[in-house]
Amino acid sequence: MPKVLISDKLSPAAVQIFRDRGIEVDFKPGLSPADLRAIIAPYDGLAVRSATKVTRELLDVAPNLKVVGRAGIGVDNVDVTSATARGVVVMNTPFGNAITTAEHAIAMMFALARQIPEASASTKAGKWEKNRFMGVELTGKVLGLIGCGNIGSIVADRALGLKMKVIAYDPFLSEKRAVEIGVEKVELDALIARADIVTLHTPLTEQTRNILGRDALFRLKKGARLINCARGGLVDEAALAEALTSGHLAGAALDVFETEPATDSPLFGLENVVCTPHLGAATAEAQENVALQVADQMADFLLTGA
Ligand code: MLT
Repeated sequence: MPKVLISDKLSPAAVQIFRDRGIEVDFKPGLSPADLRAIIAPYDGLAVRSATKVTRELLDVAPNLKVVGRAGIGVDNVDVTSATARGVVVMNTPFGNAITTAEHAIAMMFALARQIPEASASTKAGKWEKNRFMGVELTGKVLGLIGCGNIGSIVADRALGLKMKVIAYDPFLSEKRAVEIGVEKVELDALIARADIVTLHTPLTEQTRNILGRDALFRLKKGARLINCARGGLVDEAALAEALTSGHLAGAALDVFETEPATDSPLFGLENVVCTPHLGAATAEAQENVALQVADQMADFLLTGA
Protein backbone atom coordinates (compact mmCIF):
# COMPACT_ATOMS: atom_id res chain seq x y z
CA MET A 1 0.00 0.00 0.00
CA PRO A 2 1.50 3.40 -0.96
CA LYS A 3 2.15 5.86 1.86
CA VAL A 4 1.50 9.60 1.61
CA LEU A 5 2.55 12.36 3.98
CA ILE A 6 0.54 15.59 4.11
CA SER A 7 2.95 18.14 5.59
CA ASP A 8 0.85 21.33 5.33
CA LYS A 9 -2.64 22.30 6.48
CA LEU A 10 -4.79 20.68 3.82
CA SER A 11 -8.55 20.23 4.15
CA PRO A 12 -9.41 16.95 5.94
CA ALA A 13 -11.22 15.98 2.73
CA ALA A 14 -7.81 15.11 1.26
CA VAL A 15 -7.08 12.63 4.06
CA GLN A 16 -10.42 10.97 3.43
CA ILE A 17 -9.78 10.66 -0.31
CA PHE A 18 -6.42 8.97 0.22
CA ARG A 19 -7.99 6.55 2.74
CA ASP A 20 -10.98 5.83 0.50
CA ARG A 21 -8.58 5.00 -2.32
CA GLY A 22 -6.60 2.58 -0.18
CA ILE A 23 -3.59 4.79 0.46
CA GLU A 24 -2.03 5.05 3.90
CA VAL A 25 -1.86 8.70 4.88
CA ASP A 26 -0.24 10.67 7.69
CA PHE A 27 -1.30 14.25 8.37
CA LYS A 28 1.57 16.15 10.01
CA PRO A 29 1.44 19.87 9.24
CA GLY A 30 3.95 22.25 10.79
CA LEU A 31 7.03 20.01 10.97
CA SER A 32 10.38 21.78 11.01
CA PRO A 33 12.61 21.09 7.96
CA ALA A 34 14.81 18.86 10.15
CA ASP A 35 11.83 16.89 11.49
CA LEU A 36 10.48 16.46 7.98
CA ARG A 37 13.84 15.18 6.74
CA ALA A 38 13.90 12.73 9.67
CA ILE A 39 10.58 11.08 8.74
CA ILE A 40 10.30 11.39 4.95
CA ALA A 41 12.17 8.18 3.95
CA PRO A 42 9.28 5.68 3.81
CA TYR A 43 6.80 7.90 1.95
CA ASP A 44 5.82 7.45 -1.70
CA GLY A 45 3.97 10.75 -1.91
CA LEU A 46 4.22 14.18 -0.27
CA ALA A 47 1.27 16.59 -0.37
CA VAL A 48 2.03 20.24 0.39
CA ARG A 49 0.62 23.76 0.19
CA SER A 50 3.20 26.55 0.37
CA ALA A 51 4.71 26.24 3.84
CA THR A 52 6.73 23.08 3.20
CA LYS A 53 9.88 23.72 1.18
CA VAL A 54 10.67 20.69 -0.94
CA THR A 55 14.41 21.22 -1.24
CA ARG A 56 17.22 19.13 -2.70
CA GLU A 57 18.24 18.27 0.87
CA LEU A 58 14.79 16.86 1.55
CA LEU A 59 14.71 14.93 -1.73
CA ASP A 60 18.16 13.47 -0.91
CA VAL A 61 16.69 11.65 2.09
CA ALA A 62 13.44 10.58 0.39
CA PRO A 63 14.46 7.46 -1.56
CA ASN A 64 10.88 6.16 -1.97
CA LEU A 65 9.34 9.44 -3.06
CA LYS A 66 7.56 9.24 -6.40
CA VAL A 67 5.28 12.27 -6.37
CA VAL A 68 5.02 15.70 -4.78
CA GLY A 69 1.54 17.22 -4.99
CA ARG A 70 1.14 20.97 -4.53
CA ALA A 71 -2.37 21.92 -3.46
CA GLY A 72 -2.35 25.21 -5.33
CA ILE A 73 -0.90 26.67 -8.49
CA GLY A 74 2.64 27.91 -7.94
CA VAL A 75 5.36 25.33 -7.38
CA ASP A 76 7.94 27.88 -6.23
CA ASN A 77 8.34 26.00 -2.94
CA VAL A 78 9.41 22.83 -4.77
CA ASP A 79 12.85 22.34 -6.29
CA VAL A 80 11.39 20.97 -9.51
CA THR A 81 14.77 20.51 -11.18
CA SER A 82 16.10 18.33 -8.37
CA ALA A 83 12.83 16.40 -8.17
CA THR A 84 12.83 15.74 -11.91
CA ALA A 85 16.45 14.63 -11.82
CA ARG A 86 15.45 12.02 -9.22
CA GLY A 87 12.40 10.90 -11.21
CA VAL A 88 9.97 12.48 -8.73
CA VAL A 89 6.86 13.84 -10.44
CA VAL A 90 5.69 17.29 -9.30
CA MET A 91 2.02 18.06 -9.81
CA ASN A 92 -0.09 21.11 -9.00
CA THR A 93 -3.81 21.95 -9.16
CA PRO A 94 -4.03 24.73 -11.72
CA PHE A 95 -7.82 25.18 -11.58
CA GLY A 96 -8.93 24.68 -7.98
CA ASN A 97 -8.26 28.19 -6.68
CA ALA A 98 -8.41 30.24 -9.89
CA ILE A 99 -11.85 31.77 -9.24
CA THR A 100 -10.98 32.66 -5.66
CA THR A 101 -7.71 34.32 -6.68
CA ALA A 102 -9.42 36.24 -9.48
CA GLU A 103 -12.04 37.42 -7.01
CA HIS A 104 -9.29 38.66 -4.70
CA ALA A 105 -7.80 40.72 -7.53
CA ILE A 106 -11.23 42.24 -8.20
CA ALA A 107 -11.66 42.95 -4.48
CA MET A 108 -8.26 44.67 -4.50
CA MET A 109 -9.35 46.75 -7.50
CA PHE A 110 -12.40 48.05 -5.64
CA ALA A 111 -10.38 48.58 -2.47
CA LEU A 112 -7.97 50.77 -4.45
CA ALA A 113 -10.55 52.62 -6.49
CA ARG A 114 -12.55 53.62 -3.40
CA GLN A 115 -9.77 53.59 -0.76
CA ILE A 116 -11.90 51.25 1.32
CA PRO A 117 -9.25 50.11 3.86
CA GLU A 118 -8.19 53.70 4.68
CA ALA A 119 -11.78 54.93 4.77
CA SER A 120 -12.75 52.09 7.06
CA ALA A 121 -9.84 52.76 9.43
CA SER A 122 -10.67 56.47 9.49
CA THR A 123 -14.38 55.88 10.14
CA LYS A 124 -13.65 53.39 12.92
CA ALA A 125 -11.33 55.99 14.45
CA GLY A 126 -14.37 58.27 14.74
CA LYS A 127 -13.16 60.80 12.15
CA TRP A 128 -16.00 60.84 9.55
CA GLU A 129 -13.66 62.24 6.83
CA LYS A 130 -16.26 62.39 4.07
CA ASN A 131 -14.21 64.79 1.92
CA ARG A 132 -10.91 62.93 2.22
CA PHE A 133 -11.81 59.87 0.19
CA MET A 134 -12.61 60.77 -3.40
CA GLY A 135 -12.68 57.61 -5.50
CA VAL A 136 -12.65 56.73 -9.18
CA GLU A 137 -15.33 54.86 -11.11
CA LEU A 138 -14.28 51.59 -12.75
CA THR A 139 -16.80 51.67 -15.60
CA GLY A 140 -15.06 52.58 -18.85
CA LYS A 141 -11.54 52.29 -17.40
CA VAL A 142 -8.87 50.25 -19.16
CA LEU A 143 -7.78 47.18 -17.20
CA GLY A 144 -4.42 45.78 -18.35
CA LEU A 145 -3.83 42.10 -17.61
CA ILE A 146 -0.26 40.88 -17.57
CA GLY A 147 -0.95 37.17 -17.97
CA CYS A 148 -4.27 35.91 -19.27
CA GLY A 149 -4.36 32.21 -18.36
CA ASN A 150 -6.73 30.50 -15.92
CA ILE A 151 -6.84 33.34 -13.41
CA GLY A 152 -6.36 36.28 -15.78
CA SER A 153 -9.22 35.18 -18.00
CA ILE A 154 -11.59 34.98 -15.00
CA VAL A 155 -10.51 38.48 -13.96
CA ALA A 156 -11.23 39.60 -17.53
CA ASP A 157 -14.70 38.08 -17.42
CA ARG A 158 -15.56 39.84 -14.14
CA ALA A 159 -14.08 43.15 -15.33
CA LEU A 160 -16.08 43.02 -18.57
CA GLY A 161 -19.16 42.58 -16.37
CA LEU A 162 -18.15 45.84 -14.69
CA LYS A 163 -18.08 47.47 -18.15
CA MET A 164 -14.32 47.94 -18.18
CA LYS A 165 -12.23 47.73 -21.35
CA VAL A 166 -9.83 44.79 -20.93
CA ILE A 167 -6.47 44.55 -22.69
CA ALA A 168 -4.04 41.68 -22.13
CA TYR A 169 -0.35 40.99 -22.62
CA ASP A 170 0.35 37.26 -22.71
CA PRO A 171 2.65 35.60 -25.24
CA PHE A 172 0.65 32.37 -24.82
CA LEU A 173 -2.72 33.98 -25.57
CA SER A 174 -3.89 33.34 -29.14
CA GLU A 175 -5.81 36.00 -31.07
CA LYS A 176 -8.70 33.51 -31.34
CA ARG A 177 -8.88 32.97 -27.58
CA ALA A 178 -8.57 36.73 -26.96
CA VAL A 179 -11.60 37.34 -29.17
CA GLU A 180 -13.54 34.50 -27.47
CA ILE A 181 -13.02 35.96 -24.00
CA GLY A 182 -13.55 39.56 -25.09
CA VAL A 183 -10.10 41.00 -24.47
CA GLU A 184 -7.77 42.91 -26.76
CA LYS A 185 -4.37 41.23 -27.07
CA VAL A 186 -1.58 43.83 -26.90
CA GLU A 187 2.18 44.04 -26.47
CA LEU A 188 3.56 44.91 -23.05
CA ASP A 189 4.56 48.45 -24.08
CA ALA A 190 1.05 49.17 -25.35
CA LEU A 191 -0.45 47.83 -22.13
CA ILE A 192 1.87 50.02 -20.08
CA ALA A 193 0.93 53.06 -22.14
CA ARG A 194 -2.85 52.48 -22.06
CA ALA A 195 -3.91 50.82 -18.80
CA ASP A 196 -5.60 52.77 -16.00
CA ILE A 197 -5.25 49.71 -13.78
CA VAL A 198 -2.70 46.93 -14.26
CA THR A 199 -3.15 43.51 -12.70
CA LEU A 200 -0.57 40.70 -12.79
CA HIS A 201 -1.54 37.07 -13.36
CA THR A 202 1.63 35.38 -14.47
CA PRO A 203 3.98 32.95 -12.71
CA LEU A 204 7.40 34.12 -11.57
CA THR A 205 9.98 32.86 -14.06
CA GLU A 206 13.31 34.17 -15.31
CA GLN A 207 11.35 35.87 -18.14
CA THR A 208 8.78 37.53 -15.86
CA ARG A 209 10.99 38.51 -12.90
CA ASN A 210 10.78 42.31 -12.55
CA ILE A 211 8.46 42.50 -15.54
CA LEU A 212 7.40 45.76 -13.93
CA GLY A 213 10.80 47.16 -13.10
CA ARG A 214 11.58 50.82 -12.48
CA ASP A 215 11.49 51.84 -16.12
CA ALA A 216 8.15 50.14 -16.78
CA LEU A 217 6.59 51.49 -13.59
CA PHE A 218 7.49 55.05 -14.54
CA ARG A 219 6.15 54.49 -18.07
CA LEU A 220 2.71 53.57 -16.70
CA LYS A 221 0.13 56.33 -17.10
CA LYS A 222 0.33 58.99 -14.42
CA GLY A 223 -2.33 58.12 -11.87
CA ALA A 224 -2.43 54.43 -12.84
CA ARG A 225 -3.06 51.79 -10.19
CA LEU A 226 -1.34 48.43 -9.82
CA ILE A 227 -2.57 45.10 -8.42
CA ASN A 228 -0.35 42.08 -7.74
CA CYS A 229 -2.05 38.89 -6.56
CA ALA A 230 0.37 36.66 -8.50
CA ARG A 231 3.93 36.55 -7.19
CA GLY A 232 6.34 38.91 -5.46
CA GLY A 233 9.36 39.46 -7.68
CA LEU A 234 7.23 40.45 -10.68
CA VAL A 235 7.36 44.06 -9.51
CA ASP A 236 10.39 46.01 -8.28
CA GLU A 237 9.10 46.92 -4.81
CA ALA A 238 11.62 49.72 -4.14
CA ALA A 239 10.81 51.37 -7.48
CA LEU A 240 7.09 50.92 -6.80
CA ALA A 241 7.46 52.73 -3.47
CA GLU A 242 9.21 55.56 -5.35
CA ALA A 243 6.53 55.71 -8.05
CA LEU A 244 3.82 55.91 -5.39
CA THR A 245 5.59 58.46 -3.18
CA SER A 246 6.37 60.72 -6.12
CA GLY A 247 2.69 60.71 -7.08
CA HIS A 248 3.33 59.04 -10.43
CA LEU A 249 1.10 56.11 -9.48
CA ALA A 250 -2.16 56.63 -7.61
CA GLY A 251 -2.14 53.36 -5.71
CA ALA A 252 -1.11 49.73 -5.46
CA ALA A 253 -2.69 46.65 -3.97
CA LEU A 254 -0.36 43.80 -3.12
CA ASP A 255 -1.16 40.31 -1.94
CA VAL A 256 2.32 38.95 -2.64
CA PHE A 257 5.83 40.14 -1.83
CA GLU A 258 9.42 39.52 -2.84
CA THR A 259 10.07 38.07 0.61
CA GLU A 260 7.29 36.23 2.42
CA PRO A 261 6.20 36.40 5.15
CA ALA A 262 6.53 40.15 4.54
CA THR A 263 6.67 41.77 7.94
CA ASP A 264 8.36 45.02 6.99
CA SER A 265 8.40 47.03 3.78
CA PRO A 266 8.73 50.67 2.70
CA LEU A 267 5.35 50.11 1.03
CA PHE A 268 3.60 49.47 4.35
CA GLY A 269 3.93 53.12 5.39
CA LEU A 270 2.16 54.45 2.29
CA GLU A 271 -1.48 55.48 2.51
CA ASN A 272 -2.24 54.58 -1.10
CA VAL A 273 -1.10 50.96 -0.70
CA VAL A 274 -3.44 48.11 0.22
CA CYS A 275 -1.80 44.91 1.46
CA THR A 276 -2.99 41.42 2.28
CA PRO A 277 -0.84 38.46 3.43
CA HIS A 278 -0.95 36.19 0.33
CA LEU A 279 -4.67 35.57 0.72
CA GLY A 280 -5.35 35.08 -3.00
CA ALA A 281 -6.37 31.44 -2.60
CA ALA A 282 -7.71 31.73 0.91
CA THR A 283 -11.36 30.78 0.72
CA ALA A 284 -13.00 27.69 2.14
CA GLU A 285 -14.16 26.71 -1.34
CA ALA A 286 -10.75 27.03 -2.99
CA GLN A 287 -8.93 25.17 -0.23
CA GLU A 288 -11.46 22.35 -0.41
CA ASN A 289 -11.08 22.22 -4.21
CA VAL A 290 -7.29 22.10 -4.24
CA ALA A 291 -7.18 19.50 -1.47
CA LEU A 292 -9.62 17.23 -3.28
CA GLN A 293 -7.84 17.68 -6.60
CA VAL A 294 -4.35 17.07 -5.31
CA ALA A 295 -5.44 13.95 -3.41
CA ASP A 296 -7.21 12.52 -6.44
CA GLN A 297 -4.32 13.26 -8.80
CA MET A 298 -1.74 11.80 -6.44
CA ALA A 299 -3.87 8.71 -5.81
CA ASP A 300 -4.30 8.20 -9.58
CA PHE A 301 -0.57 8.44 -10.04
CA LEU A 302 0.40 6.20 -7.14
CA LEU A 303 -2.17 3.53 -7.90
CA THR A 304 -1.87 3.40 -11.66
CA GLY A 305 1.29 5.29 -12.53
CA ALA A 306 -0.93 7.56 -14.70
C1 MLT B 1 -1.06 29.35 -5.46
O1 MLT B 1 0.03 29.28 -6.01
O2 MLT B 1 -1.90 28.45 -5.54
C2 MLT B 1 -1.42 30.57 -4.69
O3 MLT B 1 -0.43 31.51 -4.67
C3 MLT B 1 -1.93 30.30 -3.33
C4 MLT B 1 -1.00 29.60 -2.39
O4 MLT B 1 0.19 29.89 -2.35
O5 MLT B 1 -1.47 28.74 -1.67
